[in-house]
Amino acid sequence: MSTARAIRTYADLVQDLADRGLLDARWRRVFDAVPRSRFVPAEVWRQLPDGCEPVVGTDRWMALVNSDEPVVTQLDDGAGDGPGVATSSNSQPSMVARMLGLLQVEDGHRVLEIGTGTGYVAALLSERLGDERVHSVELDPVVARQAAAFLVEAGYRPHLRVGDGEQPWPGTGPVDRLIATCALRYVPHALVRQVRAGGIVVAPLARDFWSGALVRLDVQEDGTAHGPFCGGASYMPMRAHRESPHQVDGAGGRARAAGVDPARLLTLGFALYAGARLPGVRLTHQQTADGAQVWVTRADGAAATAETGGDVRQYGPGLLWEDVEQTWLEYEALGRPGHDRFGLTVTDRGQRVWLRDPHSVIEPVRT
Ligand SMILES: C[S@@+](CC[C@H](N)C(=O)[O-])C[C@H]1O[C@@H](n2cnc3c(N)ncnc32)[C@H](O)[C@@H]1O
Repeated sequence: MSTARAIRTYADLVQDLADRGLLDARWRRVFDAVPRSRFVPAEVWRQLPDGCEPVVGTDRWMALVNSDEPVVTQLDDGAGDGPGVATSSNSQPSMVARMLGLLQVEDGHRVLEIGTGTGYVAALLSERLGDERVHSVELDPVVARQAAAFLVEAGYRPHLRVGDGEQPWPGTGPVDRLIATCALRYVPHALVRQVRAGGIVVAPLARDFWSGALVRLDVQEDGTAHGPFCGGASYMPMRAHRESPHQVDGAGGRARAAGVDPARLLTLGFALYAGARLPGVRLTHQQTADGAQVWVTRADGAAATAETGGDVRQYGPGLLWEDVEQTWLEYEALGRPGHDRFGLTVTDRGQRVWLRDPHSVIEPVRT
């Protein structure tokens, strides 16, 4: 293979997205016209499982930008001395393509994006619909200023605003489509109210029970919205939706044999079911040589950990692992439905997860 052939280009990246069925002909043309590199600053980081690594040198920068990975563009909200948590990025291109596909935009539509970030999605939408029809809001003023500069340099002038995307954009009136590119712990009804009846909201949700998931909501005449979960998604949370870790006293603990291999719990379908049945219970995990190790925690200090092939240890009040296993048995009895069978309804009273149709709401366990 020649050296030139080995260097991956933006064209290769777009071709990959098209080969994976993520771009229809119109989005293909749009992605071709908007190089990602024009929306990535010089100082960036690569997201690794245990933190962010600075990207040093032009070749590495270009390789990351032309890969199907997110490019981290800000750490710790711009504080120079933080722990190194990614707080802004140019998102993973395949995720961007999936979300834009789910948005089902048509000529003449007006779109609101929450989380301008680098401006790349705003540029793609502007190329597809025209600057006048695109609104994008970013909370961080430094990030917003840089995105505005990238957009102008690339020849796009969508409507931009610095502010909290959870709040209505004064004077815009309802839009046809809303796309959130930061993860929401819940879909605020204020977001739904910014979209006309018949419009669509696409957003990544950050769920307690280990999973991030995309949701596509159809806005109804009565101002509610409902629609299906559409696969996994990992996004940085909207700023007001960040959470601090549960405090757990890990001393002692009560051991017993596990009734289910924790690795079996790690499907998006079960995560959506358990997240609805056990609200406030968080599950995190890591792969091990034999399967997985999981940790479950709750705000009252209840916790449990289990590893494939090992015992369960439970800490604090209650017996949290019993709740998880009971929920797994229920999920098995339901035939272990896949994630695409679950959906979400948002009203002015909050949000509810359902199975198969919006009338079959999954009620939380009363503890
Ligand atoms: C993954 S980045 C967005 C990527 C972007 N769409 C792009 O094309 O580069 C998420 C962004 O959401 C922003 N954000 C977080 N909370 C927000 C809020 N309440 N309103 C608006 N933007 C917010 C973050 O500052 C961050 O820049």
